Amino acid sequence: MFKQRTIFFLSVIAIGAMTLGNINAQEKRNRYPVIPYPSILEPAKGSFIINRKTAVLAPELMFKNEQRFLREMLAGYLGGDLPAKKKGNVIVMRFDSGIKAAEGYRLMVNPEQITLRARTPAGMFYAVETLRQLLPVDVEKGKGNSLTISSVKIADQPKFPWRGMMLDVSRHFFSIQYLKKYVDMMALYKMNKLHLHLTDDQGWRIEIKKYPKLTLEGAWREFNNQDTACMKVEKETGNTDFRMDKQHLVNQNGKLKYGGFYTQEQMASFIQYAQSRHVEVIPEIDMPGHMMAAVKAYSYLTCDSTVGSGPGFTNPICPCNPQVLQFAKDIYSEIADLFPSKYLHIGGDEVEKSNWLKSPVCQDFMREMGFTHVNQIQSYFTAQMKTFFKSKGKTLVGWDEISEAGIDSAAVVMFWRSWAGAIPMHASKNKNKLIMSPSGPLYFDATPDINTLADVYNYDPLDEKYRLSDTEKENIMGVQGNLWTEMIPTEERADYMIMPRMTALAEVGWTYRPLYTSYRKRLESHYPRLDDLNINYRMPDIIDVAENNVFVGEKLFFKAAPLKYYTIRYATDGSLPHASSKALDKPLSVKQNLTLKMALFTPSGRRGDVSTLHFVGQQYRKQEPLSNLPEGLDAALYKGSFSATTKIKPTADSTFKVLKVEVPASVKYNEFGLRFKGYIEVPETGIYSFYLNCDDGGVLYIGDQLLIDNDGLHPAKEKGGQIALEKGMHAFKLNYIDGGGGNRLDLKYSIGNEEPKIVPASWFRSKE
Ligand code: ACM
Repeated sequence: MFKQRTIFFLSVIAIGAMTLGNINAQEKRNRYPVIPYPSILEPAKGSFIINRKTAVLAPELMFKNEQRFLREMLAGYLGGDLPAKKKGNVIVMRFDSGIKAAEGYRLMVNPEQITLRARTPAGMFYAVETLRQLLPVDVEKGKGNSLTISSVKIADQPKFPWRGMMLDVSRHFFSIQYLKKYVDMMALYKMNKLHLHLTDDQGWRIEIKKYPKLTLEGAWREFNNQDTACMKVEKETGNTDFRMDKQHLVNQNGKLKYGGFYTQEQMASFIQYAQSRHVEVIPEIDMPGHMMAAVKAYSYLTCDSTVGSGPGFTNPICPCNPQVLQFAKDIYSEIADLFPSKYLHIGGDEVEKSNWLKSPVCQDFMREMGFTHVNQIQSYFTAQMKTFFKSKGKTLVGWDEISEAGIDSAAVVMFWRSWAGAIPMHASKNKNKLIMSPSGPLYFDATPDINTLADVYNYDPLDEKYRLSDTEKENIMGVQGNLWTEMIPTEERADYMIMPRMTALAEVGWTYRPLYTSYRKRLESHYPRLDDLNINYRMPDIIDVAENNVFVGEKLFFKAAPLKYYTIRYATDGSLPHASSKALDKPLSVKQNLTLKMALFTPSGRRGDVSTLHFVGQQYRKQEPLSNLPEGLDAALYKGSFSATTKIKPTADSTFKVLKVEVPASVKYNEFGLRFKGYIEVPETGIYSFYLNCDDGGVLYIGDQLLIDNDGLHPAKEKGGQIALEKGMHAFKLNYIDGGGGNRLDLKYSIGNEEPKIVPASWFRSKE
């Protein structure tokens, strides 16, 4: 997977020859924890000290903005403006026409001087952001007399020009203040494209002067099913990040409404803010589907003037009607004037075309145009819009459905349907440029325990699985993380979902080298910085905690925090732990049944995710007085589709013996149930943990006790359970279902703190 990445690195080395310092990799990471990691970083001896006499000089007018950034940051810490002329040591920003990459820069720190070089303001900005990350974290919020920075030589440039983040402001709304914070987070990590998903079925968020009802009506709603789903999570977990954000609630004519929108004036001022941080804002007005908010305000937009839904999605607007096409152009006319971006995003995803098929207007239109497939209507719409955008000097971007029935090669395709992996190749053969934002790794609305930091880091937009030739790979403009906000009603939750995953994506898009171990190590020093910036990032996991724990007599429970910076605190009275709850700084003696809730806390008292652990006192389960049973288990196979093991039909289609827990190779059904029954003989008295990983569902009983419930139709997922067992034989039962699409069934065990292992065949017995 990383072959491409290595080749890129080797080619970057050619941009400048520098001698290697003699510190080891570990020291280098600690001294220079930059994310995304630079193309070339050479440690050097000594350090530079910034104090109130240090001048930040930018002889070229073109870097005034970047100079101001750096001066304000340093002045904030040093508590006073810095001299405008050389008084002590200096930081100099220089134009350098020799730097070929538009966003590239060089940074040199030695005890006498810091020099930043770039050919463009963007390059200079990234030099400043690197310098910022090399300064002590205190520079973000603290105050002091001096800042020390280790000497270094850096030559850097990005792999991809598109390093994007999408924010859906329709499903839940986000303030301009938060958009600025989002841009600040992006800029710190050299991300440069902010795609705003401004409209969808659930809300219209941008003022359009010609159609005022879009925001008068379309920006407001009573609570919908997404709001109530969020409220339910808050109620069940106590996590206030799921509470409806008060700043977006209003009382309209005695009714509580949720919503909001950006005026064009507010948006224009925000765009300037983003521009000064070298973030391009790309607007998306999603058409022709996902338009319910607009359709509710202007019902003539659908072919049958109804506000309904088809089997998949809401009724789209009707491109077969010239008045509707004009509406689309009117909207984009105002959008093109407002957004200076070179790109306009048409959306184009998930269009309910059945609504067009049954419309007489569209049937006539298809006949007139000689269309034989309904997809051609979308192609027609996209082509019309593409030409219109071009007349405004803009390039059309759309979700990958725009390429389904043919698309002009000037359009940019945003790949998202990871299950349709041939799209990048087809689009690329058609000479379309592509942005890679596949669901799965780059959908940041998936919770970080399912779509992990490693998944994001290991995503390779040039993966061989896309089967792109070397020339086709050149059409890949970059990567983008998408934050859909159905289940994200607050700014805190949005922070949590993107951070720190966005830092991993930044390293894919900029560095493009397989440095995961080093990245994880560097990331550790970013957590305090993110705290100082008030970012509600997801803290590192407390690993290897079992939900259900068993003890006999007494158990000493202890977990260390993943980093010294954090403290684990806990509560045992059912409440959530808080900043002054007891710290888990020594082993906790558990002698009675107990539910313990614990979480990481930052030094300032912010709480991470809460883990709930149950401790249950047991006696060792008595062994069954059986001996000399033959090896193996009794198995029974049931052909059919079952949604849970409890739904397996009563009569087996076949019964046979097996030697271990697995799906026998002889089972050729696509959908089936399996039951295993017999005994398990454990070799010593102890507390056993069992782990059942299955696709789809499985349940495990020891004796009469349901030990693991991993039932239902689901992808491979592991669940564990603990039990105190006397040495010897215990009744064993395991039921399993497969609902098709591949199967998995394995059962592991561990005693004490050892690594889990597969339960060996020699432990299983059956009666005859
Ligand atoms: C999408 O996720 N519907 C682009």
